[in-house]
Order: sequence, then C-alpha cells, then structure tokens
Amino acid sequence: MTVKKKMDAVEYVPILKTEHILKTSFDLDFCDKIIELGKTKINTEVVDNLEGVYRTGWDLQSDPDFTPHLAYMTEVLSGCISKKFNYPHFRGANESYQSKGFQMALSWLDMWVGYYDKNSFVHPHNHGELPSFWSFSAYLSTGESSESSLYFMSDESPERSVSCMRVNVKRGDVLIFPSNIFHYTNDCAGGRVVMASNFFCGYIPNMNSGEE
Ligand SMILES: [Fe+2]
Repeated sequence: MTVKKKMDAVEYVPILKTEHILKTSFDLDFCDKIIELGKTKINTEVVDNLEGVYRTGWDLQSDPDFTPHLAYMTEVLSGCISKKFNYPHFRGANESYQSKGFQMALSWLDMWVGYYDKNSFVHPHNHGELPSFWSFSAYLSTGESSESSLYFMSDESPERSVSCMRVNVKRGDVLIFPSNIFHYTNDCAGGRVVMASNFFCGYIPNMNSGEE
C-alpha cells in the first residue's frame, strides 16, 4: 500500500491565551554606560518603523564594545523569565528541570539602541512569530519626562476587537515580552533612550548530559 503524500496545512487556531508582560530593571549606572556607548555606534542608514529616531545598527550584541555587557543582561533577563516558567510556583521547579537533563539557555538574535525626541513615533509591529523568542525594551532614559510607556495590542477582548494595554515605565525598567505581541509607542519625550533586543530564552536539553 502506498501512502499518498499530501501537503499538510498548518493551522493556527486563535483561542483565548494568557500572556504576560514581564517587568524587571537594569542598574542605572549600566543604563548610563549604554547610553554613552550607543552614541558612538549611530547608524543613519537603517530603514525601520521608528519615526524621528536616531539609532544604532541592529547587531550591537556582536560589537566588541558591547559584548562585555552581555553577561549582565543575560543574568537579569534569564532570571526574570525563569520565574515565569514556574509561575505561580516559584520554588523548586527550575531545579526540577535541571535534574531531568534540561538547562536554561539564552542566545541573542539582535540588539539596538534608539534615541528619541518628542515627535518620535513607533508604528504598531511585532518582532516575529518564533516560539521561545522574546523581546525586551529597556528604558535607559525617559528623557524630559519622569515616565514613559509602551502600548501592547491584544486580541483577547470578547468581541475579538483589538484592544490596547498601556504599560508605564520609569528609567531603568525593562519590559520582556513574547516577540509575537504587537506593540507601539506614541509617548516619547525628548531625551528618551531605549535599548531593544530579540533573543531566544528557554530550556534546552543539557549539552553535557552523558558526560562523566
Ligand atoms: Fe518593537
């Protein structure tokens, strides 16, 4: 008997989902260092969805001047995300993954810094659909305003109409969110500086398993 090959359709069925925007923070001295370092890496050739934004190129994570800072960012971000994996059972579950042959891994896809003024605008967008990919936006400075914000768009309202949720941030705050969540900003003050990145973070099989 021959089995006829067929093209399997991949269905994406939207059901109610529960997503969280995670919030943590970077040290303010670290924020100041990155603001100054980013100014030396401005690239005016980049075409993107950021209007009126002065920015670096996409790949700071591979710039030798930035790589010394990656370990600190990895520690902050993976620490925050590992708590979500256990939510709301914070105690013990990470050890349980590790004892069963998994390890937490974080790997950078891209990273950039944007310098905004009061007329800047970020069009609604997401950062891709890959499972286990996350994005962060770090508010290195909120500029002339004491607060800033990021709007997230949700499809979860009963009518399935698009609704928006505003998350307020202060200087040093870091928002971490699944890369597929749509978001935008129209809340820019002069001097606002935001670092952003896409990265993989999740449990992978332990690369050392089997070794003595
Ligand atoms: Fe974004």
